[in-house]
Amino acid sequence: MSENQSSSKGVTIAPAEGKLGILIPGIGAVSTTFMAGVEAIKQGWAAPVGSLTQLATVRLGKRTDARTPKIKDFVPLANLEDLVFGGWDIFDDNAFEAAANARVLEPAQLEKVREPLEKIKPMAAVFDREYVKRIDGPNVKQGTKWEKALALIADIEKFRVDNGCARLVMIWCGSTEVFHRAAAVHQTIESFEAGLKASDPDIAPSQIYAYAAIKCGVPFANGAPNLTHDIPCLLDLARDNNVPICGKDFKTGQTFMKTLLAPGFKARMLGMTGWFSTNILGNRDGEVLEDPGSFKTKEETKLSVLDQILQPNLYPELYGNLFHSVKINYYPPRGDAKEGWDNIDIFGWLGYPMQIKVDFLCRDSILAAPLVLDLVLFLDLAQRAGMRGIQEWLSFYFKGPMTAPGLYPEHDIFIQLMKLKNTLRWMRGEDLITHLGLEYYD
Ligand SMILES: NC(=O)c1ccc[n+]([C@@H]2O[C@H](COP(=O)([O-])OP(=O)(O)OC[C@H]3O[C@@H](n4cnc5c(N)ncnc54)[C@H](O)[C@@H]3O)[C@@H](O)[C@H]2O)c1
Repeated sequence: MSENQSSSKGVTIAPAEGKLGILIPGIGAVSTTFMAGVEAIKQGWAAPVGSLTQLATVRLGKRTDARTPKIKDFVPLANLEDLVFGGWDIFDDNAFEAAANARVLEPAQLEKVREPLEKIKPMAAVFDREYVKRIDGPNVKQGTKWEKALALIADIEKFRVDNGCARLVMIWCGSTEVFHRAAAVHQTIESFEAGLKASDPDIAPSQIYAYAAIKCGVPFANGAPNLTHDIPCLLDLARDNNVPICGKDFKTGQTFMKTLLAPGFKARMLGMTGWFSTNILGNRDGEVLEDPGSFKTKEETKLSVLDQILQPNLYPELYGNLFHSVKINYYPPRGDAKEGWDNIDIFGWLGYPMQIKVDFLCRDSILAAPLVLDLVLFLDLAQRAGMRGIQEWLSFYFKGPMTAPGLYPEHDIFIQLMKLKNTLRWMRGEDLITHLGLEYYD
């Protein structure tokens, strides 16, 4: 019996020719660290650590075949040289100034990429203080929500022409919006467009960006936990317009650790009574998350992870009484250098209790930047491969992976990675890897 499973003959993938424009709502810590990093890598003095598209390999065929090309040599991805950046923000600082304010990168390093970053001037944003309460800025569009959507569409098309882009991808790196649920206005594209014209308060700014992108045939990813395009009308529009989409909320820091550790405890059938997580961070993201509405949006994605990994309904004796709590505290002295503490109460054989403490002194934007790079390159690949709608194989990158309605998301990072690599194998007509491997012992 084989370790592999025959895949299809692969799919036709258009070549990655020409410029790929990356459009980003939110020129803040994550997006500027991403753009500065790409420029540094292009200049040859930094390495793309954390990026699968740049560093990871994919095993093909049997373990004895010794075929492990780099992902970027296996599927046709856009070259870093062909990326062009643009975006929107409520502040009119260019990307160099925004990166300097974010204080993620060393000033001397940032200086080396000053020239390309200074050229990135944010376009006027679609913004609503009802959705992000702690900040306000002057660089915003006026008019009805419909007029704002049309203005974004005009921005997208102008960017495409001005920069000679063959293709575009949009990724939301804006602040976390307040928690809200899908309403009547989000059900059909007709109701949504009527809602835009009536400036319906249930339509969030991030939904107007997503609408504009998908309408223009531009793939869209959501790096924040906002509802955004996870609503029936935009899911339908993405399918109808052949646009690949994915989200939500970059899986970095503490939740990344959680999705590493929890599957391990569960794999060994160790029980758990509590998981207490707390964070301090002092960047603008932390300031926005001080607002209870924005925190609630974040909390939803952070809390759902454990429940879905541990499946207490299937294992009530191990996880039926789990107490899970997540807190974020705004603490300016730390800036982007977050500290995340976890106390995990587990139990073993005969119910004997044990504790695990994790203290992760991480850097939020340093962890998020390579995810942005991978997501834009993979979404562009998906579009050239004719894939549309939710790209569940990109769950690997998200705290709250989007899935088809009625399907529970897969949070285990190792299953997510297998899914991602098998999707690449499938695209190229290579055998899928099942890890059975009985043939080696025949
Ligand atoms: N850094 C991480 O590890 C990480 C992980 C998961 C999710 N995220 C999310 O990614 C997003 C970006 O994080 P960050 O640290 O860069 O935050 P940030 O505050 O530095 O940047 C966000 C930027 O978005 C702008 N903005 C807000 N609303 C906007 C709008 N409607 N249109 C255009 N711009 C708008 C803000 O002015 C700000 O400059 C946040 O939502 C954050 O929660 C970050």
